[in-house]
Amino acid sequence: MHPAHPLLAVTHPDPYPYYAALAREQPLYWDKTLGLWVASHPTAISAVMRHPAARVRPLTEPVPRGLCPGPAGELFSRFVRMNDSRLHTRIKTLLMAYLQAQSQQACTPQWPAITLLSAVQADRFLYAAPVHAQAAFLGLPDQLHADCAVQIQAYLTALPANANADLIAAGHTAALTLQDRLESHLLAAEASPALRQLRDDGARDGIPAALLAANLAGLLFQSCEAGAGLLGNALILAGRRSLDASTTPAAARTVIDHVVRHDPPLHNTRRFMGNAIEIQGQRIEAGQTVLLVLAAAAMIEPDNAWTFGAHGHACPGQTLARSHAADALLHLLHAGTDAHALASHFRYRPLLNARVPQFDFSKDHQP
Ligand code: HEM
Repeated sequence: MHPAHPLLAVTHPDPYPYYAALAREQPLYWDKTLGLWVASHPTAISAVMRHPAARVRPLTEPVPRGLCPGPAGELFSRFVRMNDSRLHTRIKTLLMAYLQAQSQQACTPQWPAITLLSAVQADRFLYAAPVHAQAAFLGLPDQLHADCAVQIQAYLTALPANANADLIAAGHTAALTLQDRLESHLLAAEASPALRQLRDDGARDGIPAALLAANLAGLLFQSCEAGAGLLGNALILAGRRSLDASTTPAAARTVIDHVVRHDPPLHNTRRFMGNAIEIQGQRIEAGQTVLLVLAAAAMIEPDNAWTFGAHGHACPGQTLARSHAADALLHLLHAGTDAHALASHFRYRPLLNARVPQFDFSKDHQP
């Protein structure tokens, strides 16, 4: 049976026929139940993403209220992902140049320790591995990779509107740690040539080092939950295909590319209207929200990797995300993980945008 609405599709066992029908039959509509607009066809999504009135955050709440005031809110406000200010485009260009230059430098992730992978360990690994890989890519010292994963987890856990005071306090502490850590890394005398270039380009453009450092922390942050979904969905496919310790790097990469195309990790993003606009003959009022169903657009344009977004805010980490997930999957399989057993007992985490499997749900474990 089809899910009742797009937000329930994220955790549905097979939402793809529903997404295909949605994109074909209701490319842009007002959903009364959800109280938001839903855009699902590539043309409608692109029209919204390209419109200057469509913002990545609500005008009335540029930073989640629960995080303000404090370091967690300040860090959030600095992420390119979370703002459309004039600086966004400049910082994004610098970040992309940095990612390109840094990728010339070899890096070997120190993966989270695993013994024989239990369901609980698998859940933890999914969230930690993308951050370990990203921290290694940034050239952070090996002994900090595991702690980066812990801090990013604490930060992520503080974001939901229902996070309690303890979780928010932990999020503030994590934000301070990440900001300081990435700022020291950026300004270090022994920084990599790519980082030094970023520093110099930033200084030339009058961009404070604190802002660049926050966006290096942003790379760790952005890699985490979507990366967990990509690796998790790949692990399930590997299990269904009975892949084992003899899997080659090329076979692992094939699994990742298949998952990006057919069972993507990120299904939705949102835009918030600054002014009333008209799209495809429909008027979207100022203050209204549009849910952009990327996973539905992918049913119409399967070659376009919609799970990584498009246009001005498109993901700059797509290549890295794919190669880190393939390396992590290979690591798990070579360590003797029984992917078949994991794939036979899981559910999806109750998230609104990311499709992330959860293997242990005896209690509601945080990864
Ligand atoms: C499977 C993994 C990933 C997926 C599915 C993914 C997906 C996305 C999507 C859909 C967006 C755009 C959101 C929007 O327009 O509303 C985005 C933005 C972004 N992603 Fe990724 N991402 C992944 C991994 C990564 C990694 C590894 C990095 C770091 C290198 C990264 C860095 C970013 C950044 C910095 C942005 C903000 C770009 C901007 O606002 O201009 N992502 N990502």
